[in-house]
Amino acid sequence: MIDPVLDISASVRAAVVAVLGAAGESADLAIHRSEHADYQADVALAVARLLKRPPKEVAAAIVERLPPSDVLSDARVSGPGFINLNCRPEYLAMQLDRMRADSRLGIESALHPDTTVVDFSSPNLAKEMHVGHLRSTILGDSLARILDCLGHRVIRQNHLGDWGTPFGMLIEHMLDEGAAGNNDVRELSAFYRAARLKFDGDPQFADRARRRVVLLQSGDPPTLEHWRRLIDATTSHIDALYKQLHVALSRDDIAGESLYNPRLEGIVGELERAGLARSSDGAVCVFLPGFVSREGQPLPLIVRKQDGGFGYAATDLAALKHRLQALRAHRVLYVVGAPQSQHFAMVFDTARRAGWVPEGARLEHVAFGSVLGQDGKELKSRAGGAVSLSALLDEALLRARAIVDERSSSLEEGERARIAEIVGIGAVKYADLASDRIRDYVFNWSRMLTFEGNTAPYLMYAYARIRSILRKAGVDAATPASGPAAVRIDSPAERALALEILQFPGTLARVGETLQPHRLCQQLFRTATAFSGFYDACPVLNAEPAVRSSRLALCKLTARVLARGLELLGIDVPESM
Ligand code: ARG
Repeated sequence: MIDPVLDISASVRAAVVAVLGAAGESADLAIHRSEHADYQADVALAVARLLKRPPKEVAAAIVERLPPSDVLSDARVSGPGFINLNCRPEYLAMQLDRMRADSRLGIESALHPDTTVVDFSSPNLAKEMHVGHLRSTILGDSLARILDCLGHRVIRQNHLGDWGTPFGMLIEHMLDEGAAGNNDVRELSAFYRAARLKFDGDPQFADRARRRVVLLQSGDPPTLEHWRRLIDATTSHIDALYKQLHVALSRDDIAGESLYNPRLEGIVGELERAGLARSSDGAVCVFLPGFVSREGQPLPLIVRKQDGGFGYAATDLAALKHRLQALRAHRVLYVVGAPQSQHFAMVFDTARRAGWVPEGARLEHVAFGSVLGQDGKELKSRAGGAVSLSALLDEALLRARAIVDERSSSLEEGERARIAEIVGIGAVKYADLASDRIRDYVFNWSRMLTFEGNTAPYLMYAYARIRSILRKAGVDAATPASGPAAVRIDSPAERALALEILQFPGTLARVGETLQPHRLCQQLFRTATAFSGFYDACPVLNAEPAVRSSRLALCKLTARVLARGLELLGIDVPESM
């Protein structure tokens, strides 16, 4: 693994143990990049609290006990007890050379790969996919790519809402119309609306729809046949959207709610026998310690409704059991909006009590905030209704096209169209990924499409610029290390760039744990910014031969990091711009 933080930790750890004794083995070293030095360690503050000694003194004691090192050139106490650490330039150069020679850019494959289920996207087929599903789709796709790259066995699961009462109405409407619209998502929502209108306005139709639900739930073969046709038609709409978004989610990844329908009866029976579920007001519920309503009443997880039907919770319990036992997952991720956090907490707790969760398995709700408009309220279309995703992506393409036409007017038409597609889709995805997922996210066209700041266009432009430098120099950009030159780190701007590049593998490993793609975005942005500082300060093409090839190697490595990082976010890069 290429990770300066790990290498520095080894030295700092030895010094902390020398000061603190065995307790130092597990102390949090808190080593991070810093403006004041290459890295800073904050460990002395915590150790000082334990020893009840002044932090400055403890920091000095740690610095004094740092063993001789090939990694660190110097260490100094700063401020109230921080330790500033600088790396040897030869160490940085050597790590960069290792990274250059490695097709995986120093990213290590997990020693103990986890089978990880990522439940994401999961729209409801009886409604139009909304911006919340867009967030889940973009975040989940990126997390699946990152975990896969870290060597885990990733199983994508699209928990489609493809079952339940609305399907009675939709099947009847499809039978009346003879089709469920073509592949245009807008037609699909018109289809839903028409079915709903008929249901509300035509009692005979409503009757038929209700009878159809009963037939569907009792497994009537012709009804199932119609249902299958409806699902196929609607699934092709979402397939088109995934394709436009470059989301790696296929029909094979679909494990919709209907899949678990035959198992719900058994699940509820099992929970009842285990004493976890009991009847309450005609429904069957699980009551769990610690889950109470605002009024202090025990909060039920309803697994069987009063009318005898099964709902969302029962389906999720069946799905979780399947994932743990049949798919043998060690880690199950649910990329779903924050409002469902209590639902998942209760489902996870129930599964644990039912004994389905093996020791060490991790169940995680990867929650995210709402998508807001610039007024701070739920994002709405101009007409005031929910925003249609296909309209949103069309607008992204139009806006990106206008920008590319203006900036790159010398490129030919087809080329500009291709770049606009990469920029438009990339900008929408990046803006979502770059903000801390748990916070509400404000959708803002001009911010996501600007070439300044932490945006997709900025990173794409940095990449395209490097590619153009490499083309001018005649450097083959595709292969790992090429050219004999070893990298040399002389100037401060080279050093600053080196430090950012070397953060890449460690950042990815951390994102695999915290499931926060915005940290990867931040790191790519810092890398691109450091590149621009480097390119301003350090001549590349006109430098003397040894310096030139070292700097070209830095350029190429930067481009590889940016392209790989964006790819892991599910974003393409243009070769020129
Ligand atoms: N279809 C659900 C919704 O739109 C999301 C499903 C998330 N996954 C799950 N296993 N519950 O709210």
